[in-house]
Amino acid sequence: MVDNTLINLIGHQTQLLVEMGSFAEILHWGQAIEGDLASFRQALHRPVPYGRLDTDIAMTLSPELGRGVFSSPGIEGHRNGLDWSPVFIIKEINTDKQAVKITSEDKQAGLQLITELSINNNDVIQTRHTLTNTKQDVYHVNRFANTLPLPARVNELMTYYGRWVNEFQTQRQSLIQGGYQQENRRGRTSHEHFPALVAGTAHFGELDGDVWGFHFAWSGNHRLRVDVKADGRRFMQAEVIYLPGEVMLSQGESITTPWLYGSYSNQGLNGMSQQFHAYVRNSILPSGFAKQPRPIHLNTWEGIYFDHDPKYIMDMATQSAEMGVERFIIDDGWFTGRNNDKGGLGDWFLDEKKYPDGLKPVVDHVNALGMEFGLWFEPEMINKQSHLYRQHPDWLLAIEGYEQPTGRNQYVIDLQNKDAFTYLFERLDYFLSQYNIAYIKWDMNREIVQPGHSGYAAAAKQVELYYQLLDMVREKHPKLEIESCAAGGGRIDFEVLKRTHRFWASDNNDALARQSIQRGMSYFFPPEVMGSHIGASYCHSTRRRHSVEFRGLTALFGHMGVELDPVKENKEEKQGFERYIQLHKTYRTLLHNGHTWRIPCDDKAQQVHAVISDDQSEALVLISQLAMPTYALSGMLRIPGLNDLALYRISVIDKPGNYNDIVNYQPPWTLHESQLSGVWCREIGLTMPILDPESAILIRLQRI
Ligand code: DGJ
Repeated sequence: MVDNTLINLIGHQTQLLVEMGSFAEILHWGQAIEGDLASFRQALHRPVPYGRLDTDIAMTLSPELGRGVFSSPGIEGHRNGLDWSPVFIIKEINTDKQAVKITSEDKQAGLQLITELSINNNDVIQTRHTLTNTKQDVYHVNRFANTLPLPARVNELMTYYGRWVNEFQTQRQSLIQGGYQQENRRGRTSHEHFPALVAGTAHFGELDGDVWGFHFAWSGNHRLRVDVKADGRRFMQAEVIYLPGEVMLSQGESITTPWLYGSYSNQGLNGMSQQFHAYVRNSILPSGFAKQPRPIHLNTWEGIYFDHDPKYIMDMATQSAEMGVERFIIDDGWFTGRNNDKGGLGDWFLDEKKYPDGLKPVVDHVNALGMEFGLWFEPEMINKQSHLYRQHPDWLLAIEGYEQPTGRNQYVIDLQNKDAFTYLFERLDYFLSQYNIAYIKWDMNREIVQPGHSGYAAAAKQVELYYQLLDMVREKHPKLEIESCAAGGGRIDFEVLKRTHRFWASDNNDALARQSIQRGMSYFFPPEVMGSHIGASYCHSTRRRHSVEFRGLTALFGHMGVELDPVKENKEEKQGFERYIQLHKTYRTLLHNGHTWRIPCDDKAQQVHAVISDDQSEALVLISQLAMPTYALSGMLRIPGLNDLALYRISVIDKPGNYNDIVNYQPPWTLHESQLSGVWCREIGLTMPILDPESAILIRLQRI
C-alpha cells in the first residue's frame, strides 16, 4: 500500500483530483481551481449515515463488491468458481503533470490491475485498465469496465439512438433515480448505439450548463451505463460486452480495456465539442494528416451502382473533373461476380468481363484529369455465392452446426483464421501496389451473429484483428487514406479514426435527414472527418426531392463530395454542383480548422450551424429551415464565439432562388452588407430571414 496522497492532474481549464491510498478515487473532475489543496480532506470527505455500512465506501476507478460497493463492479470473473471478488491494493504509482499510472494487486486472487488515467491540454481525459492473471489456472473474465464518477448535480442525459439511414439521433432523459444503460451486441460500433453520451446539469444546453461527455473508443459490442446510486452519487461506466468464455487468461496473460474518453465543460455542449474536436485533430487522427485540405470526392455508388462500364466511368470522371472534383472513387461492383448484392464478396479480383482492358486505363484517365483515384472494398465479408466461399467454406465467422441469418446476403470472414487474414492482406496489398490508389473506402455491411472461431466466442478478437489488418495495410501504404464505412455510419468511433481519415456518416444523402444526422455526429467529431455528399435531386433513400441549394449547403460543412452520375445530370444541376464545390474549396480551410458552433434558435423549425476561425477573424453561419416556421417571424440570430470588441462585415453568400419572392421584404441585413460588433451579434443579434421549409441561407462574417 502507498501513503495517502493527492494527485492533481491539470488540463487547460479542467482538473482531476485523485486521492490515492490503498485505492484510487477521483474526488474532483471539473473546473480547474487555483491554489492550495491542503484542506481537501475536510472539504471533500463524505459523512457516514446510519443504516448502511459503518465506513465510507469509495467509488473507485474500478468499483469492487469486496470493498462494499453495491454498484456495477469494474471486474467480474473467476477461476473455476474462485477468486471472484477481488479487492485490489495499490502497489505503485507513476505520475507526471498530466498522467498517472497505478499498479494494484490482489495477491490472494492472483490478479494485477494497471490503471492509466490522463488529462491533456484539450481538456479531454482518457482512462483504461489492464488486468493480468498472475496465478496458475485460467482466469475467466466476464466483465471488465472503465468507471468514472459524476457529481451529484448531474441530473440529465443526452443519449444516442438511430438506425441505418438515420444515424446519430439524440434524445434527452432525466437522471434522478436508477440509471441509463445501452447495450450494443451487433458486433460493430453500430448505427443503433453510438458509443457516447453526455451527462450534465439540468437543462444543459448548447451554450450553457455543466456537461461531461463520454466516448468509448471501440468498434464492437459494448455496454454504457450511467447510474444514480441509492445514496445519490453518480457514475459512468463503459465496457466491452464479452460473450461467454471469450476472455480466458492463462498465467501471465493480460487483457486491456479500450480507452474511455471524457471531457468536461462549463460552457455547455459547444464547449465540450470544441474540446473533443481539438483533441481529435491533435491526438486521434493519423499524424500529419489533420491540417491537410480534404479533396472533393465523386463516388460512383448512387450514380451507377453495380452497372460498371469503364468507358462510361471515364466519361463520368471527365465530367467530374470539369465540375471541380479532386478525387474519383469507384464504389462497389468492380470485382469478379459482383453484379448485385447477392454474390462476389471475397473475390477481390478485377472483373475482367466488365474491365477487359484492366483497371489501369481508368486509373490513368482519372489521374490525367488531375484527380486522385479511390476504390471500394469490403474486406471482412464473404458471399456464399463466390469462388472464395466455394474454396474455403470453413472461413466463416460462425459456429459449426448452426445456420445463421445473413445480412445483405453475406457472411463475415473469421479473421482469426490465419490463411483468411493473409489472403485479405495480400488482396488489398495487391491492388494498392499495382495501381495508383490514393484512397480506399472500407465498408462493412452486416451485423455479426454468432461470431465463432473453432466453436469459441470471438467477437472482441474479430474487432482487434480488424484493427490489425488496417494497421498492416497502412504500414505498407503509409500515404493511403481510408474511409471507414459500415452501411453508412455503422462504424464511427475514435479507435477506427486512429487508423482512418474519413467516415461515411450515412447512406442517407437526403439533405433534410442529413441535418440531424450531421448535427448528432458533430458533438464528438470535427466536420472534416464527416463525409457529406451532394446527392441527386431525387433522394434514393427517402424518395424526397430537394433543391441543389439546400443539398449543396447541407454538404458544405463536412468533407464534401458528390454522389450521382454527372453524365445524366442536366445543365442547371451541374452548375449547382460546380458552385457548391467551388464554395467549399474557398472556405474549406476555415471550415476544417475553425471552431464549430451549434447555435440555439428561437424557432425550433430552424437549425443554425456555424464555424468561426481560431483567430475570430472570419465565420460562416448556415441557417437551415427544417420545417414550416412556427411563427410568422422567427426571432433573432445570435452568434456566439466572435470577438466582442471587433467589428464584422456581414454578407449573404448563398440563398434560395426564390428568397425575395416569398415575402413582402426580407431583413435588410440580408439584402445589403452590414457591419456589427461581435458583442452585438452575440447579445442582440440579427432578425431571422423568412425561409421556405427545406431551404437554407449562408452568411459570412469578416472582421474589419
Ligand atoms: C454501403 C455504403 O454505405 C454505400 O455507400 C456503398 O458503398 C454500398 N455499401 C456499396 O455496396
